[in-house]
Amino acid sequence: MRGFQRITLGLFLVAVLAGFVFQMGCDDIQNEIVGALGETQYSQAQIDRGRYLAMELSLCWECHTPFGPTGLDTSRLFAGGREFIPGVLSTPNLTPDPETGIGNYTDQQIFKAITQGIGHYDDDSPEGEPLFAIMPYYQFANMTPEDVMSIIAFLRKGVEPIVNEVPERAPFIIPPQPSKLLDYSSLPGDDDDPGKYLTSAAGVCIECHTQRLEGGDPGALNPDLYFAGGEEFPIPGLSVRSANLTSHPDTGIGNWSREEVVTALRKGQNSEGIPLCPPMPQFRGLTDGDVNDIVNFIRNLPPIDNFVEPCAIIEGPPPPPQ
Ligand code: HEC
Ligand code: HEC
Repeated sequence: MRGFQRITLGLFLVAVLAGFVFQMGCDDIQNEIVGALGETQYSQAQIDRGRYLAMELSLCWECHTPFGPTGLDTSRLFAGGREFIPGVLSTPNLTPDPETGIGNYTDQQIFKAITQGIGHYDDDSPEGEPLFAIMPYYQFANMTPEDVMSIIAFLRKGVEPIVNEVPERAPFIIPPQPSKLLDYSSLPGDDDDPGKYLTSAAGVCIECHTQRLEGGDPGALNPDLYFAGGEEFPIPGLSVRSANLTSHPDTGIGNWSREEVVTALRKGQNSEGIPLCPPMPQFRGLTDGDVNDIVNFIRNLPPIDNFVEPCAIIEGPPPPPQ
């Protein structure tokens, strides 16, 4: 999913110059929850739920798996090393290998990386270090602790350890972090709507389908444009922006039928059978129930008038395989 490479050199420089605002908070509550759920006892149901989330909905694997010659190398799932900022940042190895993966992290440490953006624990930094917000922790912060624990259970017990020494993050870098985590209640939709949870907490739809705020708060989503699309992705050979998913009849998908939205989600195709441009994923493995909840949710999003240029081929080399 190359769209996730959208971080630009500009943002990177902002990072280095502007420093960061460190957001922590509810540490104690979290330790309590993680402690209560246990450090080493994982049930098969937890591992299965974690696999579903990490592989089908939250798409952890897409960022944390390296490229092979023909796309993401699924024989090395979660081995890390996908480069996001050339020479500066590659994704960490999330397999249980103790030396090069996260086998030596505690559950609390992994929990904090996923939900607060604090990682890179080692003897030199036992408290961890802030992570680049390319890792969507500000959104995963709204996952239920049970789901986060399921993902941890899967990473520990459902993923093969792979020795893969990922290049260390460049030293002396202070990643730009949004000043606050996403406030779930301020996002569109009712808090108890399962579609809201699937698109805005555990799933990454909101992350791709919302433009970033210009200036000020690095990486933060523009609260006036949730799901209204327009975020640009630097993909060679293409000019591509995320689509407006709100129910606006002209600039959103207000005129799409239910089936058309389902097809876009499941097959990554529009109503004419033409493939959608990358990095729109194909959510083939989602349950029918989850697809139903997601589609109901986005079809009810209040209209936002935001015209998005359609995807177009531009000069240059063709896009690499996804
Ligand atoms: C959009 C790409 C992307 C997605 C999706 C993503 N990650 Fe990450 N993740 C990253 C990047 C990049 C880093 C490293 C950031 C840094 O070092 O500053 C990271 C760091 C981490 C770390 C810290 C590892 C360490 O060594 O400290 C953990 C744990 C992690 N991710 C788990 C997950 C899980 C679990 C999911 C799915 C729920 C996930 N990630 C989804 C890009 C992603
Ligand atoms: C990695 C980024 C990314 C993620 C994650 C993502 N999308 Fe998309 N999506 C896109 C892009 C980019 C397009 C536009 C593709 C094009 O123009 O051909 C798109 C197009 C669509 C369309 C077609 C709309 C239209 O007008 O063409 C729908 C529907 C859609 N996405 C729904 C979703 C839902 C629901 C989710 C979460 C379950 C999701 N997307 C997750 C990037 C993403």
